[in-house]
Amino acid sequence: MVWTTTGDLVTTEQILPPDPHLMESMRAVGYTLQTAVADLIDNSISASATMVDIFFGSSPYPYVALVDNGEGMSSGEAIDAMRLAGTSPLTKRNPNDLGRFGLGLKTASLSQCRDLVVVSKHEGALCGFEWNIDHMIAQQTWSLLVLAGDELKSLPRFNELADRTSGTLVIWRNLDRLTATVGDLSSSFDAAMTEVRSHLALVFHRFLAGEHGQRFEIRINRVAIQGSDPYLESNKATQLGPSESFSVAGEQIEVQPYTLPHLNRMTPLEKKRAQVAGRVRDSQGFYIYRELRLVIWGTWFRIAPKDDLGKLARVRVDIPNTLDHLWSLDIKKASAAPPPQIRDNLRRIAGRIVAPSRSVHLYRGRIVQEQSRTNPIWNVIDDRGNFRYEINRENPAVAALTDRMMPEDMTQMSTLLTLLESTFPVEDAYNRLGQDESHSPQQPSGPGLESLASALWKAYKASGGNPEQFVSAMASIEPFILTSSPKELLRKVVND
Ligand SMILES: Nc1ncnc2c1ncn2[C@@H]1O[C@H](COP(=O)(O)OP(=O)(O)OP(=O)(O)O)[C@@H](O)[C@H]1O
Ligand SMILES: [Mg+2]
Repeated sequence: MVWTTTGDLVTTEQILPPDPHLMESMRAVGYTLQTAVADLIDNSISASATMVDIFFGSSPYPYVALVDNGEGMSSGEAIDAMRLAGTSPLTKRNPNDLGRFGLGLKTASLSQCRDLVVVSKHEGALCGFEWNIDHMIAQQTWSLLVLAGDELKSLPRFNELADRTSGTLVIWRNLDRLTATVGDLSSSFDAAMTEVRSHLALVFHRFLAGEHGQRFEIRINRVAIQGSDPYLESNKATQLGPSESFSVAGEQIEVQPYTLPHLNRMTPLEKKRAQVAGRVRDSQGFYIYRELRLVIWGTWFRIAPKDDLGKLARVRVDIPNTLDHLWSLDIKKASAAPPPQIRDNLRRIAGRIVAPSRSVHLYRGRIVQEQSRTNPIWNVIDDRGNFRYEINRENPAVAALTDRMMPEDMTQMSTLLTLLESTFPVEDAYNRLGQDESHSPQQPSGPGLESLASALWKAYKASGGNPEQFVSAMASIEPFILTSSPKELLRKVVND
């Protein structure tokens, strides 16, 4: 404000650029090593790369480097790329462009290191630039270092780029954040790489499967990453629900529901793959893709509770980058809340989708109960909000033994049965099943079952029963129903 000669107060301007410490503050945006690396790969995909090589190295100093074979940047483009918000967030992006804010390259990189080098090759010409936080702070200005000649050649993995016709090399040096979280880099790089590998396998699984119509490969220290499909589509027992699409602000959103196979029908590897966000149960929900890139997963956005019965339900949602403004996307693109128009549609779809997951989950329990309704070995007793399991004294296998007992043995037997019932490790079972462990009980052995069957047959015959009635009655109850061919076993006993 200044006073004019007439005594009026008027507004003037003062240019107030940010202090270079801004870069230091921006490190706290909240990237992890894996989300930061993923942000660089977004850029490679936007630059039409078909191959991204990531290196974790320790010579001549610890570094992380990423080289792609994308279009690369001219010197002018690379300077724009180094500028914070060099592209406006409001610019319309190409459909394959995974960027939005013009920040990722800088903020993701400098969240992990204090020294970022970018070298690019475009139409045969090389250029290199460096943001070094300590240099900026020492100079008290936003001074971008321009690299040339031998400086470029001495950079780790420079040859990887020099050998390609075009592409970009990003190098992180002075890895202070990584040292702080994983300690000594030379020994902890492996653990860090494993986490990065599984994160990239998931978030880029559709690119790795070539769904964008191109070959695409990511390697870490030359080992290729296999995509990790969270719907286990290669398992025949995965069920696809009806796909649908709806339109929001003139753009199409595609929805594909899946119901995963029951846990007992997953291989150990598949189970691990299905445990995207902790346990399988925690990984239910929507999987939101922005231009095929997974950004959010394993949440129902508080539209529906994550109850145990929907644990096999996953819904793939494809959203174009033209709807970014509706999603209040954050800089890391890792959190976003669906706007009301999308939320209402997702709520409608969620209700319909959880139903099949629920029936897969209950299937096994119900079958056993229905087929052995006449006389299961265990009865579940509901008692006004409480429940307990009781051994069914009427089940022939139990009755065959107890019927022949002397009264004093009977008392002991009854005590034993009550003891078994009261100590049934129900909480342990609950915890284990909740931790995605599968229950695989030992089945009763052949000879034991045969002698039980023949004792039952003797008693049945003595009371005037006929063989076929016996076979069909016994074949449908526990324990015989639990064997693979109950009728065969029973007929053998009857014919002996
Ligand atoms: N590997 C690369 N190959 C070619 N160009 C790149 C590469 N990485 C970055 N760029 C260029 O630099 C620009 C800035 O990248 P940066 O990641 O900072 O922002 P963005 O991708 O535009 O948006 P966002 O902040 O959402 O990631 C990109 O728009 C792109 O033009
Ligand atoms: Mg980017």
